[in-house]
Amino acid sequence: MQENGNHEGPGEEAVFFAEEHTLTDEGRPAPTGTHSRVLSGYAKEYRDRFLKHYDELKWLYCELYQNRMDGFEALCSMMYRYYQNRKKDLKALDEKRLEEPDWYKGNRLVGMMLYVDAFAGNLEGVRKKLDYIEECGVNYVHLMPFLDSPEADNDGGYAVSDFRKVKPALGTMEQLSRLADDCRKRGISLCMDFVMNHTSQEHEWAKRARAGEKEYQERYYFYDDYGIPAEFEKTVPQVFPTTAPGNFTWLADMGKFVMTSFYPYQWDLNYWNLAVFHDMMDNALNLINQGIDVVRIDAVPYIWKQLGTNCRNLPQVHSIVRMMRMICEIVCPGVLLLGEVVMAPDKVAPYFGTVERPECHMLYNVTTMASTWSSVAARDARLLKRQMDILSRLPREYVFLNYLRCHDDIGWGLDYPWLATLGMGEVSHKKYLNDFFTGCVPGSFARGELYNSDPASGDARLCGTTASLCGVEKARVEQDEAALERAIWLDLMLHAYMFTQSGIPVIYSGDEIGQENDYSYHEDPVKREDSRYLHRGKFRWDLETKRADKDSLQARLFDEIGRLEKIRGSHPVFESDADVWTADTWEDSVLCVIRAKGEEKLVALFNFSEWDKTAWINEDDGEYEDLISGRTMEAKGVNIPGYGVYWLLKK
Ligand code: GLC
Repeated sequence: MQENGNHEGPGEEAVFFAEEHTLTDEGRPAPTGTHSRVLSGYAKEYRDRFLKHYDELKWLYCELYQNRMDGFEALCSMMYRYYQNRKKDLKALDEKRLEEPDWYKGNRLVGMMLYVDAFAGNLEGVRKKLDYIEECGVNYVHLMPFLDSPEADNDGGYAVSDFRKVKPALGTMEQLSRLADDCRKRGISLCMDFVMNHTSQEHEWAKRARAGEKEYQERYYFYDDYGIPAEFEKTVPQVFPTTAPGNFTWLADMGKFVMTSFYPYQWDLNYWNLAVFHDMMDNALNLINQGIDVVRIDAVPYIWKQLGTNCRNLPQVHSIVRMMRMICEIVCPGVLLLGEVVMAPDKVAPYFGTVERPECHMLYNVTTMASTWSSVAARDARLLKRQMDILSRLPREYVFLNYLRCHDDIGWGLDYPWLATLGMGEVSHKKYLNDFFTGCVPGSFARGELYNSDPASGDARLCGTTASLCGVEKARVEQDEAALERAIWLDLMLHAYMFTQSGIPVIYSGDEIGQENDYSYHEDPVKREDSRYLHRGKFRWDLETKRADKDSLQARLFDEIGRLEKIRGSHPVFESDADVWTADTWEDSVLCVIRAKGEEKLVALFNFSEWDKTAWINEDDGEYEDLISGRTMEAKGVNIPGYGVYWLLKK
């Protein structure tokens, strides 16, 4: 287990599971084997939470780890220690959130994701920019990976070499805590990545494994020859078919293969080994106690590997996530789990768990994101209408993170069987999307680059910033005023659409000022093979200052996005538990989404084409006010300009 002295040795708490059946202080039967002395030593609030989950946690743990009660005991001791070490104000926030468990639902949160170095150099820099973040209307900040990772071979920080240390160039653990403190005072929630599928090959465990320590080799998947890897390769798809083909890497110095689902330098952790689970929970809780509110569980579907399967979304993954949820509910109940599940919708929703056994609090709305860009390229919103219909049938408790762009590529995971009914084939549509967004078809305004283009299968994904994909870059370079105007409209329409979806909208840092692609990564030997760096450029503070000129592109986007956020935040109809449905517009490029909550009814219209259209809707119930322009209108046969948007609120 953890070498760095965090793991409890046998001591006082070793008697924790003495074989006796006792009563709790309140006279309720304590779970079998629980020692009353230890239980009564627990703070009351902790004990209640612990007892609530004890049976299920033990059950799942024992099922996964062959009834290893010594391991379970160590886990419980560790949990209590983190509870004890949790700062007073974090405990107070836990209590507050327990009283208001829906605190993250509704329409209050607006998120932003950013790279610490690209945004402000380091953690102290981010702390100094909190005023700007607040000015953006943002109260949820996702800090991209900030833990120590090698200079090269780091996958943008997703190859962690030390979970207990901040990357020195970005700061220290103390500075992370300080940033979290300042955020908390301002009511800003902080999200961090927890990369639990793998470590960097530079991580201490990996180094010790490489040096021949068997105990550490057991933390990864090592094989002496290609026999078993070959069996795995028969059923396991590839994540990066072009940039990192295969799921195993040969280590000549060791004479062994190691499993590497992502990059060769990211070694998959072996969760069959309880030491891995234990120490990773230790690492997670240690980070959480710095003041983290939201844990983004990176690449979670991949964490359990089993021969003969595709090693994705296996039942054991759900057991682990459920255990993480319970551990958090016991130790730090104010903390939320955000699952990164970039999969088809039927694979995503199970990560919410069930009402009795919830797993993640929030998940990415990845299919909607991809369908949105497909609708832009096709000038056809029918797929999006279908996607909205599917989402609106899901339970209201589900909270999605809505986004237009993130740090990763756009993968074209669309509903192809349904698109086929419109005459769009999977291969041809994907090709069209990639051609469109790389500016290769007539009429395209987008400037993107392919990602993991696989000539063998013809498959590829896509990179680029929102502004560049919307046409801002091309119009600026070509000095085409009219095209620039259209690009701004499209960009704003897409943001308005994101804000119309139930859940938490997350802006990608730089999008609020229309930041374009950054091509400098082509010159960087560490980055040039990975086109995702195209949209991971440095935040352009030089352009941000242009906001002072109200006619500038930056001011127009920034101010208008801010205005949309304010409108969203001030009308209950945007809350997550509103009723949502769509209406036919009899115009393929115009999407109509209707939301209703209490007295409020909103008819939202989005034109996904550059041409003026009419939405042939007939909401025959009187006058509406367009919340964006202030105009009074009827929600009947509405003329809508190219890339226009209306938020019509029933008067
Ligand atoms: C997640 C991250 C991605 C990274 C991968 C491997 O998918 O979003 O950026 O490459 O995990 O850690």
